Amino acid sequence: MGASGGILTKLMADAMNRSLGSILIGGFGTGDGAAPGAVGAAEGIRTIDADDAAIRLAYAGRVIVVPGYGLAAAQAQHELHELTELLESRGVRVDYAIHPVAGRMPGHMNVLLAEAKVPYSQMKEMEEINPEFPRADVALVIGANDVTNPAARRPGTPISGMPILDVDRAETVIVVKRSMGHGYAGIDNELYTEPGTRMFLADAKSALGTLTTAVKTLVR
Ligand code: TAP
Repeated sequence: MGASGGILTKLMADAMNRSLGSILIGGFGTGDGAAPGAVGAAEGIRTIDADDAAIRLAYAGRVIVVPGYGLAAAQAQHELHELTELLESRGVRVDYAIHPVAGRMPGHMNVLLAEAKVPYSQMKEMEEINPEFPRADVALVIGANDVTNPAARRPGTPISGMPILDVDRAETVIVVKRSMGHGYAGIDNELYTEPGTRMFLADAKSALGTLTTAVKTLVR
């Protein structure tokens, strides 16, 4: 048990581009325990309603889904798969982008999606999916935050050097989360104020149910 825990911690440190020491001392994450930052709609963000989001998804050629800790917290994996199956039935190509430290334990997203019977062939590792974002009409981010934060590409931030999913390179980014609160790292996400990003502020489970209903109602 001890050895496997050590190996997993080492894998996590590598995925985050951090030293093992910094992970063990725990200087990185403050988000879980800390009070959220700005909560509710903030200045400089663009929101999207269910109907607009549903139309963009239903008429997309290609959608890349980015699951994160919030999907697990909401236990919304089944609602997510229901939505993506509906999109696929309309001819939309759907892939899932899996960041190595998305969630709170190694392999968290793979286990969650497998439980909802998402085919393994659609779960793409970060290195494989990152070059595909510029070809995606929509990146649908569900309860993921730190693993999409472009601040990681600049020096001087708590997540500098951590590889991220390049969601900001998709034509449109729809982010589903409940508020403007932080993720585990406890910092603002610069993705949220980018021109191509639309915030859908809601619990993941209810948002996905609403989106599925909207696609069924609006698009025949
Ligand atoms: P996070 O950056 O932690 O962000 C998760 C987001 O989910 C939050 O910003 C939260 O925003 C949202 N959320 C929570 N409950 C929700 C709900 N019911 N419905 C919708 N959204 C909800 O997640 P991530 O992007 O997956 O990144 C993982 C983080 O955890 C990284 O910083 C990583 O280093 C760290 N970490 C990972 C591991 C492993 S091994 N995976 C282990 C320890 C730490 P709202 O509150 O606004 O909804």
